[in-house]
Amino acid sequence: MITFSRLAAASSAFATALLFSTAVFAHGDVTPQAVDTKGLQALGETWLAENPYSGNEAAVKVGASGFAQNCARCHGIEAISGGIAPDLRMLDRDCMTQAESKKAACIKENQEYFVTTVRKGRVRNGAVYMPPFEGILQQEAVWAIKSYLETRRTSQP
Ligand code: HEC
Repeated sequence: MITFSRLAAASSAFATALLFSTAVFAHGDVTPQAVDTKGLQALGETWLAENPYSGNEAAVKVGASGFAQNCARCHGIEAISGGIAPDLRMLDRDCMTQAESKKAACIKENQEYFVTTVRKGRVRNGAVYMPPFEGILQQEAVWAIKSYLETRRTSQP
């Protein structure tokens, strides 16, 4: 039996997805989806080196929806990888066990790695492992997705 609270949580997550996306039913679609970042601080054209939205609740919500639309079909629903692509909950795993003094630098390095990967995608020997999102996702959307993934961190898959 589905308890009331689980049902309520599921329907509120669904409402959130609807609120931020008119393309919610396109989940799993191959076409990348624009992400509605209205309400988030605008960041301009120049890509930042660090996530300006870390811990920002509105950004996490936008990112959850953006992830579901653009990344989940390969990286897994709620970022739990089914094995097709790396599990992005593990992205900062090595940083989390570092000494406090090194942690921030480690996370910053990963942010650069993250943004570069998302912008350029992954192409090797002419095979597209991951499509580039440059020109499809604005940096607001990319950092929002990163913020969402930061809430999904885990050290064990
Ligand atoms: C078509 C499938 C596909 C889609 C869609 C996709 N990815 Fe990927 N992604 C991959 C694969 C496969 C790899 C591993 C590539 C390799 O082996 O070089 C990867 C690698 C990555 C990496 C590097 C991970 C690591 O541990 O090195 C990041 C970060 C990443 N993807 C983020 C994203 C984000 C964010 C999105 C959505 C905006 C996304 N990806 C959409 C397939 C995809």
